[in-house]
Amino acid sequence: MKIIIEKNYEKVSCAAAEFLAETVKKNPFAVLGLATGSTPVGAYKRLAEACKRGELSFKNVKTFNLDEYVGLGECDAQSYVTFMRENLFSKVDIDLNNTFLPDGKAKDLDAECKRYSALIGSLTRDVQLLGLGRNGHIGFNEPYTPFDSVTHVVELTADTVQANSRLFDDIAQVPRKAVTMGIAEIMKAKRILLVATGKDKAHAVRAAVKGEITPAVPASVLQNHADVTVILDEEAASELH
Ligand code: GLP
Repeated sequence: MKIIIEKNYEKVSCAAAEFLAETVKKNPFAVLGLATGSTPVGAYKRLAEACKRGELSFKNVKTFNLDEYVGLGECDAQSYVTFMRENLFSKVDIDLNNTFLPDGKAKDLDAECKRYSALIGSLTRDVQLLGLGRNGHIGFNEPYTPFDSVTHVVELTADTVQANSRLFDDIAQVPRKAVTMGIAEIMKAKRILLVATGKDKAHAVRAAVKGEITPAVPASVLQNHADVTVILDEEAASELH
């Protein structure tokens, strides 16, 4: 595991954007695994700026997102598909047909999980970008999700519902379920880029990076992956020493 500690969120965002940009420059047909949440917003902004300056093109890039809320879709402001369009896809030259997320509005969710799982399995991701939940979750793989899990429907923990409620008008509006890429599928990416910032992630960062490898801390599975880069700000890294 390569751990990079930057001063603050801005510097972390630059470093993460640089990592992803280099991947796309090296392979214009790159397949990227992408994440939502507040953490990657700054990196996406920088990627969009690089694209605008003509330094980078997503014309032939394909993307797979980690997760989506059950019941939310393109017409919902808080869905992850809307998040991705607003923060990245509408700001770069990517073909929307090459961007994939689980369909949270699918009538048959089991069939949707199987469809998405097969889709992920059909292409190798060059990089999987990950944020980190305060409870150590990756994607929406909550504590005690088996390491061999594939795409599945998950019941969100009270902690996750609480943490994510800041993006909704009211906690009652936060969906209680989501479809998430499984841990086994996350681990199949060639490289993994985990990004975390802020004091409230410090405990999860320590458990993920230095703690026991256990399903109680889903992100600890990353210690088993051969090529992981972790980019942290000083606050998120504050419990590492
Ligand atoms: C959500 C997402 C995760 C994300 C996490 C952290 O639960 N499903 O993929 O990593 O939140 O979000 P944030 O970056 O906003 O702290």
